[in-house]
Amino acid sequence: DLLTVIVPAAGAGRRMGFGKNKAFITIRDIPLLVLCMKMLAETGMVRRVIVVTRAWEITETELMLKEYRDRFPGLSWQVTAGGRERQDSVANGLALVTDESGYVAVHDGARPFAGTEVFARTFARAKECGAAIAAVPLKDTVKIVDARGIVVSTPDRSSLCAVQTPQIFEINVLRKGYDFLKEHPVAVTDDASLVEASGHPVAVAEGSYENIKVTTPEDLLLAEKILEKQSRSE
Ligand code: CTP
Ligand code: MG
Repeated sequence: DLLTVIVPAAGAGRRMGFGKNKAFITIRDIPLLVLCMKMLAETGMVRRVIVVTRAWEITETELMLKEYRDRFPGLSWQVTAGGRERQDSVANGLALVTDESGYVAVHDGARPFAGTEVFARTFARAKECGAAIAAVPLKDTVKIVDARGIVVSTPDRSSLCAVQTPQIFEINVLRKGYDFLKEHPVAVTDDASLVEASGHPVAVAEGSYENIKVTTPEDLLLAEKILEKQSRSE
């Protein structure tokens, strides 16, 4: 079985503060989205990638992927337009998946360092359960805080985890999640939330602390280090 991967990369990159989509930000001269495609190709688990970018960036994205295609040989890809929120972008990508069976992964364009092992672990759990997500134990303590800035409670850290992508689903399981969203509109920050809400269990696989989501400027320093480390061990 090979994966169809939906790569949401249609954000505005507001927290990065460069006034552009993070997909085009370079680390050691390679655009983030290209690093992500390279990582996907290297897993050997991917058949097809649906890259979701902002409508007015489709041509630029296609040109960039063509320019760098030698870095992700064997990968077939297409680019489509995203929407207002991440969930709208993933829904647009999912609309292009017409297969009746098989597995689809959703993987953030801003997570170029997930790596083969995380994909393998998450895919294996998805095959057992129909839905699986990569996650790591939280490093920080988390608190629920009210609008006045006063702590309400402290959830037990041992039962919390920080969720990443890939999130991998039997295609119909993810479809049901997105059908549920149509009937019960809600804002979510990951795809598994919709699958959970539709009543399907979601398994957790071990992610990696290297699988950062490049979000704020200081993440770029860390990203350079991770890239160096990963290219040394290639
Ligand atoms: N994303 C998307 N469509 C949106 C919003 C986000 O495809 N409407 C994608 C981003 O491009 C990114 C991933 O979802 O790859 C995770 O989102 P995030 O890290 O929040 O990226 P941005 O939304 O671009 O950043 P910010 O929230 O700081 O503006
Ligand atoms: Mg965002």
